[in-house]
Amino acid sequence: MFQTLSEYSASSWKGSNEYDGLEAVVAGIADGAQLIQAKVRAAVLAQAVGTTGEINVQGEVVQILDTFSSDTLVRTLSESGRVAAVSSEEIEETVVVGDSPAHQYLVQMDPLDGSSNIDVAISVGSILGIWKRQADEMITDSTLLKKGTEQVAAVYTVYGSCTMMVVATRENVQGFTLDPTDGIFRLTNPDIRIPEKNSCYSTNEGNFKGLDLGTQKAVEELRSTYSLRYVGSLVADFHRNLLKGGIFLYPSTKKSPEGKLRLMYEANPLAFIAEQAGGAASSGKERILDIEPKKLHQRCALIIGNKDVVERTVSVMDR
Ligand code: AHG
Ligand code: MN
Ligand code: MN
Repeated sequence: MFQTLSEYSASSWKGSNEYDGLEAVVAGIADGAQLIQAKVRAAVLAQAVGTTGEINVQGEVVQILDTFSSDTLVRTLSESGRVAAVSSEEIEETVVVGDSPAHQYLVQMDPLDGSSNIDVAISVGSILGIWKRQADEMITDSTLLKKGTEQVAAVYTVYGSCTMMVVATRENVQGFTLDPTDGIFRLTNPDIRIPEKNSCYSTNEGNFKGLDLGTQKAVEELRSTYSLRYVGSLVADFHRNLLKGGIFLYPSTKKSPEGKLRLMYEANPLAFIAEQAGGAASSGKERILDIEPKKLHQRCALIIGNKDVVERTVSVMDR
């Protein structure tokens, strides 16, 4: 009935010039996602919700599952044998995991997105951007400061009513669903394109007062045109908008003048996926994928979804 992830990746990436080895990296992400989704679903019973008491490099309280997810994906990516380095929202510096010529990929990740929603049983997920390492490129923090346009692939998983993994390359966007009966990801959403018709807008309306005038105008226009859907987990809001049409915006606010979301492992991977599916992603000032990164954990504003609605929203913001 449905092609499996390993059948799809063996026929599409293995041995190809541009994507050779990507099948092992995506298999590593799939293995990690399986372990994370099982942990998330059992967390309350295992009393594994709540915080570790530490504060991460973002200045945010670290959830137990943030650390578990980060450690799990670093391990499964390292075991893929094709990843040279990983950066994570939960780890200040870059983690070098392999330095042979076979280790060609660089992965930047938000290992658990929406973590404040875990203890209330709301969807969370993982977001990963995948870049290529130049031949014998030394790995330092600046190695990972590559523009979003240089990604070769991007992946997110969403642990919701089902567990899905969406994988974009420069060719297409493929959606896989985890079969709970055998733990295999199956290609249930081939060649995803964002629907022409935009159905909703997603933003934290509680920030309205802290928005600049142009952005308030843009939100008012969206408010008068679309229904509001806001989960509070970027990956869940993005996934719904990708499949049903929609626009998500987390603009600069008084509280987060740079924006709240992180460029390298939230905005860049989702912008890559959105554009590959026919959508668009902007900071309000420039195309997300064109932003020249300066710091590993830098933040940016994010307006992402249906191309025409993103363009309209950015033009109203700009007035
Ligand atoms: P994370 O859990 O990785 O820190 O990300 C949380 C983000 C994102 O998932 C979501 O869109 C946003 O925080 C929600 O922020 P507000 O609660 O300020 O709306
Ligand atoms: Mn996040
Ligand atoms: Mn996170």
